[in-house]
Amino acid sequence: MQNKTWNSVADKVNFNLEIDTGKFLQLIPKENSILDYGCGYGRTCEVLSSLGYKNILGVDTSAKIIKRGNLKHPHLSLFQSKNYKINYPENHFNTIILCAVLTCVPEDSLKRKIISEIKRVLVPCGIIHMVEFCSNTEKRFKSSFGIDMHHSSPNFLRELVSEFSELTFDVNQVKTLKGQNALAVNYFGKNDT
Ligand SMILES: C[S@@+](CC[C@H](N)C(=O)[O-])C[C@H]1O[C@@H](n2cnc3c(N)ncnc32)[C@H](O)[C@@H]1O
Repeated sequence: MQNKTWNSVADKVNFNLEIDTGKFLQLIPKENSILDYGCGYGRTCEVLSSLGYKNILGVDTSAKIIKRGNLKHPHLSLFQSKNYKINYPENHFNTIILCAVLTCVPEDSLKRKIISEIKRVLVPCGIIHMVEFCSNTEKRFKSSFGIDMHHSSPNFLRELVSEFSELTFDVNQVKTLKGQNALAVNYFGKNDT
């Protein structure tokens, strides 16, 4: 966990990867309960709120990033989570979003634990939407803020979510925060168990 580093950069860092709002609107009814896992300062929760979604919760392990989010968006529900675990019973959320979170989790074993935890709290037939930077040749590096980053291969990310039924899996050209070209996986899956 890189929580200390996240806390130390919480007021300086900005994020830019975008969820797929077009497909999201097609697939996700407005009354759905939505969890934004690793919500940062509430950027995506704010987008969803502006689209008319009302039942949105954001959790993030960095207390300082959550504090920033709560100051910026007092109308949103953003809470600190203590570790990778989601403090809710199983079958709780209709929809879970993961946006640029696994990119910042270098350990593959922790990535797997996060996905299992998401599966646990997602209702049967619930939807997971994952948007993550990726690279055809996996890349491990430190961001300019000192965060350990991992751009996994698209195949690795696909395998990671293979317990869900794939609805869509695309790899798109995106820009990093520094304006560099990069790839990102845009995935929707269904909890069919
Ligand atoms: C690159 S930021 C993306 C934030 C947000 N999803 C966005 O796109 O605006 C990654 C976030 O994941 C959080 N994070 C990392 N590991 C986490 C974990 N195991 N559980 C919850 N949040 C985590 C970090 O604190 C950080 O705020």
